[in-house]
Amino acid sequence: MVKYEGMEFAESISANEIQEAVNRVATAINADYAGREPLFVCVLNGAFMYASDLMKRITLPCEITFVRMKSYEGTETTGKVNMLIPLQVDVKGRDVIVIEDIVDTGITMHAFMEELRKMGAKSVELTSMLYKPESLRYEDVKPKYYGLAIPPAFIIGYGLDINEKARNLASIYTKV
Ligand code: IMP
Repeated sequence: MVKYEGMEFAESISANEIQEAVNRVATAINADYAGREPLFVCVLNGAFMYASDLMKRITLPCEITFVRMKSYEGTETTGKVNMLIPLQVDVKGRDVIVIEDIVDTGITMHAFMEELRKMGAKSVELTSMLYKPESLRYEDVKPKYYGLAIPPAFIIGYGLDINEKARNLASIYTKV
């Protein structure tokens, strides 16, 4: 059990389970993109840990770049997406794979993936470490490659924060 902001969180996904899920995703991407050179776009801050673990297992020639968005305040989505660090690479003609920590309502990715297509990306796919199917409001952003599907409870750890804290935890914890 860990405590943040006066709330208690219990471990729900162990570090080992996370690494096994990352392995599965990497194997699928390596197979599907054989012969291509994808451009990975890591969505900061939450996806930094997943992106780091995933990239170490990608055997394709590839590039990675970073953007930063923010839609959550505390434990609630604000419904608005702010671009704090915009895309700095030309995606025209590229096979883009967006790396997210978690797809919850899908609002963040719905807006961003649409923008990548408008910018002329050849293909746009999404990998997310976690996915909350019951919270999804935009069917078009169901992640093609996800690590684990989870119930719609608030979680922290493995990059995910509560008011910027707990990103360093190697396991995932659910609010009790
Ligand atoms: P969406 O736009 O509702 O899909 O939310 C996506 C973003 O909200 C994620 O990239 C996370 O940064 C954040 N988020 C969603 N669910 C959680 C959670 O359970 N804990 C911490 N952050 C979350």
